Amino acid sequence: MNPEASSGLSQRVSEVKSEVEDLRTYGLRSMFSSAPDRAQQMSYSCGHLFVDFSKQFVSESIFDELMAIAREREISTRIASMMSGEIVNTTEQRAVLHTALRDASGTMPEAIAAQEELTKAFALAEEISDAGYTDVVNIGIGGSDLGPLMAYRALRRFHRGPTVHFVSNVDSSDLDEVLSTCNPASTLFVVVSKTFTTAETMRNADRALQWLRHAEVVTPAQHFVACTSASDVATKWGVHSSRVLTFWPWVGGRFSLSSVVGFSLMLGIGTDNFTEFLSGMKQIDEHFATAPLAKNVPVVHGVISFLNSSIMQWPSVAVVPYSHDLSRLPAFLQQLMMESNGKSVTTSGEKVSLLTSPVVWGEPGTNAQHAFFQLLHQGTQIVPVDFIGFAKPLGTDADAHDELMANMIAQSRALAFGRTHEEVIASGVSEDDAAHYVCEGNRPSTTVMATALNPRVLGELIALFEHSTAVQGWMMGVNSFDQWGVELGKSIAKDVSASVSGAVDDNHWDSSTESLLRWYLDNRS
Ligand code: F6P
Repeated sequence: MNPEASSGLSQRVSEVKSEVEDLRTYGLRSMFSSAPDRAQQMSYSCGHLFVDFSKQFVSESIFDELMAIAREREISTRIASMMSGEIVNTTEQRAVLHTALRDASGTMPEAIAAQEELTKAFALAEEISDAGYTDVVNIGIGGSDLGPLMAYRALRRFHRGPTVHFVSNVDSSDLDEVLSTCNPASTLFVVVSKTFTTAETMRNADRALQWLRHAEVVTPAQHFVACTSASDVATKWGVHSSRVLTFWPWVGGRFSLSSVVGFSLMLGIGTDNFTEFLSGMKQIDEHFATAPLAKNVPVVHGVISFLNSSIMQWPSVAVVPYSHDLSRLPAFLQQLMMESNGKSVTTSGEKVSLLTSPVVWGEPGTNAQHAFFQLLHQGTQIVPVDFIGFAKPLGTDADAHDELMANMIAQSRALAFGRTHEEVIASGVSEDDAAHYVCEGNRPSTTVMATALNPRVLGELIALFEHSTAVQGWMMGVNSFDQWGVELGKSIAKDVSASVSGAVDDNHWDSSTESLLRWYLDNRS
């Protein structure tokens, strides 16, 4: 099916666009004053999350239109197909079953296999905890790094056991910096790679092995655990088979945090907390599978994101967690959303004319307010914001937490309602200067409130974004589960590396690549 061509979708899209434009002229102020219960109407609860969509440009009829598009895109069927293990990643002929990873009582063979592997991982985690390691170094990149790193930082207050470090970059400074703080005798390396061939990861793993050998550690292989779907490659590399934890081709890298890819996290927070994390994810999975579309929080989040980026063509979204501990959430979501939906063709290979994934970026609040919020308030482009905040204090100072949350709520209000010319004048600013003080408002945002940043709630939050990402992809009509662009980059890097280590072949490269290579080779030493 070419979803764009189907049943006049482009007609619907342009109708929705002009309705949103009318609504923007009417303004969020008027929308709120004409419907005093707007916030109640447009706020949803699921699990420990409370999500307020009321400051988005969605009226009843726009919402109905979006739901009609969602039905046309067969979102309910697609959710069921994905969760039942049908081949939904068509270019790789794979099922997409990250939901089976946290289905503790599931009867699908994949869920049973996942439970067995989790049991093995838990036993290994206990063994490692008893072995007295002081440091664990997670070596992996992309989905084999961003998720565990983000979650380890987020759950800092639940930390027990060894200190976990994360090394991803092929730049040796990354590993050097970590190793300078570690003792070879008491350091464990967890090499995480679905393929066990990723260049950056394998180079860092090789260097880690050399470091242990150089320090004359007696049994270096004992200091490695592998988490991979290529167990034969990992054992061939030298990891003992009892220390190889597996996951499967049906777990995409950016959706893999709930598999043994989370092993370093497990070591850092304990298996009980990891189980809680999975339970939180499972709760949202159940909601995603069963709630009607119009009340399904990941679906509503996904269709509103689709509205903002694909229909309104607002090209980016800022994710601003009001939590220092969630500082890596924007980076995690960058891979999740942009690697998934940064596509140009539909699942059947036709050009997509809508804008696909928004550029995802962000920083924790309140720091973000003093960095880029000026543009959000008064710049000429619209940047929708996803605010994330927690009811319970995250640090040791409850008053500081009140201030943090007050700031978050204030920012979403300021973005939505701005400051009018009249208000500026009333505040004593001169007519000449007033224009500089006016904030138009009408900047859309969603606010996700959660009870506390604990393992369960973090699981809920991550599952919400995983499912919203899939919904956005389905609405756009793209395959969210492959990443052929990244693969092109990897293969060209391999070729360029060959030129860096050998001679530059005059006829091989374009003139820019060749001149950059020559300049680099002439100046590197
Ligand atoms: O960035 C591309 C990618 O293929 C991601 O999808 C994946 O998470 C990452 O590389 C790492 O791959 P691997 O786990 O196989 O080392």
